[in-house]
Amino acid sequence: MTYQVLARKWRPRVFEEIVGQPHVVTALANALESKRLHHAYLFTGTRGVGKTTLARILAKAINCETGITAHPCGKCRACTDIDAGRFVDLLEVDAATNTKVDEMRELLETAQYMPAAGRFKVYIIDEVHMLSKHAFNSMLKTLEEPPEHVKFILATTDPQRLPVTILSRCLQFNLKPLAAPVIAEHLKRVLTAEAIPYEDHALTQLGKAAAGSLRDSLSLLDQAIAHGGGKVASAQVADMLGTLGGDLVWPLLERLAEGDGAGTVREAERIASRSVSLDGALEEIAAILHRVALAQVGADPEDDSDGARVKDLAARLDSGRVQVMYQIAVLGRRDLALAPDELAGFTMALLRMLSFVQAPAGKRSPGAGVPVAAPEGKPARAAIASEPSRREAPAQPPAEAAPAFDGNWTAFVEKLGLTGMAGMVARYGELASFENGHLVLVVPESHPMYAERAYQEKLKAAIGPYFGAGFRLSVRVGTTAGASVAAARSREAAERHATAAEAIEEDPFVRELVRDLGAEVVPSSIRPPEDSAGVPSKEKR
Ligand SMILES: Nc1ncnc2c1ncn2[C@@H]1O[C@H](COP(=O)(O)OP(=O)(O)O)[C@@H](O)[C@H]1O
Ligand SMILES: [Mg+2]
Ligand SMILES: [Zn+2]
Repeated sequence: MTYQVLARKWRPRVFEEIVGQPHVVTALANALESKRLHHAYLFTGTRGVGKTTLARILAKAINCETGITAHPCGKCRACTDIDAGRFVDLLEVDAATNTKVDEMRELLETAQYMPAAGRFKVYIIDEVHMLSKHAFNSMLKTLEEPPEHVKFILATTDPQRLPVTILSRCLQFNLKPLAAPVIAEHLKRVLTAEAIPYEDHALTQLGKAAAGSLRDSLSLLDQAIAHGGGKVASAQVADMLGTLGGDLVWPLLERLAEGDGAGTVREAERIASRSVSLDGALEEIAAILHRVALAQVGADPEDDSDGARVKDLAARLDSGRVQVMYQIAVLGRRDLALAPDELAGFTMALLRMLSFVQAPAGKRSPGAGVPVAAPEGKPARAAIASEPSRREAPAQPPAEAAPAFDGNWTAFVEKLGLTGMAGMVARYGELASFENGHLVLVVPESHPMYAERAYQEKLKAAIGPYFGAGFRLSVRVGTTAGASVAAARSREAAERHATAAEAIEEDPFVRELVRDLGAEVVPSSIRPPEDSAGVPSKEKR
């Protein structure tokens, strides 16, 4: 049996299954119910928000044998053929690959013939902005005097590139990027139906990483399932995305709330050692503080697995301090590029927060006067020692602080700390060549999806600014030498695991627990053994 990717398996077949986009769905359904049809429809919106899906449902709605309807039956010949992609009167073209005027003309010539099986001949033209000027002109002729039996459904990610003459003849619907919680909710439904176990926080992370695209969220989910060996766990997803699992930020916030300077520095180092982006860490901290502030005025909207922890912090932290900590996190992100190194910038931002948490209670106007020095205090000093001893670095423009690509791909990737889809290709990729501004990466055969266009586009957008004009990026699947960031990480993980496994094997008590009580060992919970001096030696007679 072949595995069908989730985005295809879960393509909605009726309007009711469309997630989000209520304004579009309602307008279309109303028009269909009152049989008000337009000659040409235009769906706009970014990748993976439902343009093609809606176009196909609309094609069914106007061709269903039960009549023009907002509820196509899904059973008649027209509906089943459209679902199977073999309806003779539905012509679907990708303008990105058929830009030539001849192809367009040929296609439009068929418009004069009556539909063979359906009520209407439907032309779905995807990425319509890619058509050449001549192709547009030839389409315009048909749009100006469309035969009664012809409907156009155009889709584009870039409506600004459409000539007004075309725009003005279409009924336009703008599809919106989907909000992260809406995406997470959809993933939950998918996983429940697929009977795949998951952790809520993992879905929250995937929802954010998809950046508004349901299709991207489903391909990320495909990979999360593969990575996680059939389940979707927060730690693995964080690892896959190159972001932080919530379980790294929370202990840090806990140390901050306790006013524990040494502990804060330790947690900061622990986060840095996971080679995740510290910018992302500050972002996550700011996001949590935002929720804490909302909870303090009784308005935390999310009811998720973190709800209790948010409430707890809300009760313990003074609201003014939450404001200031938030501000420091946000400004700290901006200053990261100017810091002597990322960890220093990160640690200093945290210690600045600490200086407020620890300050004696008193009135301080929230948000005001952020740039303060840590008060004469003990915890701050501990951290200053771990600062590289560099005095007053003159302020540099961020451009100079930005890493340059010097031919060492892995070092470049580690520096940038890319997250999301861009980070995934970046970390799995190995440099094949770099000539004349053309960067070629190879990804291993085990991860062919990273060579797909969606990933390439995300990576290109993320690193393009570091390369300048004329930059090109190609990613192909091929034989790799184990020189990628991901390969190095997995070797480290394997070593850590081996060490842990060894320790477990040697410990008779743990062995007993596992054998007699069916206990499970959580590798991340293993700590170096305590001094065993206090253990009574075996009794001897
Ligand atoms: N609004 C949506 N509701 C439900 N699923 C969606 C939605 N948008 C995208 N998808 C999922 O993503 C896949 C691709 O969506 P598609 O309609 O082709 O996006 P595009 O906007 O790029 O044309 C679908 O098969 C479906 O699984
Ligand atoms: Mg599409
Ligand atoms: Zn039907």
